[in-house]
Amino acid sequence: MTAVFSRITGTGHFLPPRRVTNAELTEILARDGIETSDEWIRSRSGISARHYAEASVGSSDLALIAAQRAITAAGLEPNDIDLLIVATSTPDMVFPSTACILQRKLGITNGSAALDVQAVCTGFVYALSVADNALRSGQARRALVIGAEVFSRILDFKDRGTCVLFGDGAGALVLEASDQAGILSTKLHADGRHTEILCVPGNVNGGVVSGSAFLHMDGQAVFKLAVQVLEKVANEALAAAAVPASAIDWLIPHQANIRIMQATCKKLGLPIERMIVTVDQHGNTSAASIPMALDVGVRDGRIKPGELVMLEGVGGGFTWGAALLRM
Ligand code: UT7
Repeated sequence: MTAVFSRITGTGHFLPPRRVTNAELTEILARDGIETSDEWIRSRSGISARHYAEASVGSSDLALIAAQRAITAAGLEPNDIDLLIVATSTPDMVFPSTACILQRKLGITNGSAALDVQAVCTGFVYALSVADNALRSGQARRALVIGAEVFSRILDFKDRGTCVLFGDGAGALVLEASDQAGILSTKLHADGRHTEILCVPGNVNGGVVSGSAFLHMDGQAVFKLAVQVLEKVANEALAAAAVPASAIDWLIPHQANIRIMQATCKKLGLPIERMIVTVDQHGNTSAASIPMALDVGVRDGRIKPGELVMLEGVGGGFTWGAALLRM
C-alpha cells in the first residue's frame, strides 16, 4: 500500500549529567553580586533545576545519544535513516550544519540529506513539519528529527532575568512513512516584526564576534505574545484535522514557563493532568524541550500507542507552531 502519512516509531532524549539546582545557581550568581532566589525562580517560571553540558560538549554530542536512543526504540540502525533534521539555535559551528556533524557521529554513510532548522524554541515543530512533508511526498522514508541545545553557552550570567531560565539537552524521534495516520496536522507561523524581543544579536565578522553573543529577552513581551498565539495555533491544528480539543490525550507545550503552559492548557479546556511538564527539572531547553518532554512521557508509560498528542512551540523570531499527532 502507498504510504501517505508519517508516524513516530521511536523517541529518545539525553540530558548532560551536571544538574544545577536553583540553590546552586543562586550561590553562583551571588559571587558576582547578582541577587536571585529559589522562591523567585520557582514562582515566576516553575523551574527548580536545569542541566548544563561540560565545555567540551556540543549540541551534536547531546543529539548523538538522544538519536541513538530513538533509533534503538524504533528497532532501526543509523543507516536506515534517509533524512536527518536538527533544530538548534546553538549549533556546533557556523557551518557545516550540526545535522552533518551528527550524521558523521552516527556513522551514517548512505548519502541521505541532513540539514539544520533554525526557528529557536519553535524549531522542533518546524523540523517535524518539514520531515512530515518529505515523508508524505515520498522524498524520504525514515527521518530522524532532533532538537538539541547548549543554551548555557549563550547565557549572560550577569542578567538574572534570563540566565536562571535556560538549560541544555536533546530530544529525538524517528518518523517513518506509513499507511497509518501519525502526524495529523502541522501549522507554522512567524512574525519577523518581533525580532528584538528574543534574540542573540551578534554575528561573526572579520574573525571576531561583532555585537553581543548573549541571549537578550524582553520577558513580558514574549510572555504576552506566547499566551495569545499558543491557543490560536492549537485550534488551527485541531481544525485542520477536524478533531475537538477535548479529544487531546496529552498536551506538550514548549517548556518555557509553567504559567504560560497552564494558561494554554486552561484555554484549551483540558485538565492540567493531561499536560506533560518537564520545565521544573529541565528549565527551558529551547528546541529540545518538546521532544525531551515527549520522550519522558513515552518512557514513563503515560503516553500510549494510539493516543492523541498536541505539540506546541513558541519563541524567537517571533515563531510559533503546532503539530497534532497520533502515537
Ligand atoms: O523560550 C521562548 C519563550 N520564552 C518565554 O516564554 C519566556 C516568557 N517570559 C517569562 O517567562 C517571564 O516574563 C519571566 C520569567 C522571564 C519573568 O517573569 P515576570 O513575572 O515577567 O517578571 P519581570 O520580568 O516583570 O520582573 C519582575 C521583577 C523585576 O523587579 P522589579 O522591577 O519589579 O523591582 C525584576 O528585576 O523581578 C526581578 N527579577 C528577578 N528577581 C529575582 C528578574 N529576574 C529575577 C531573578 N531573581 N532571577
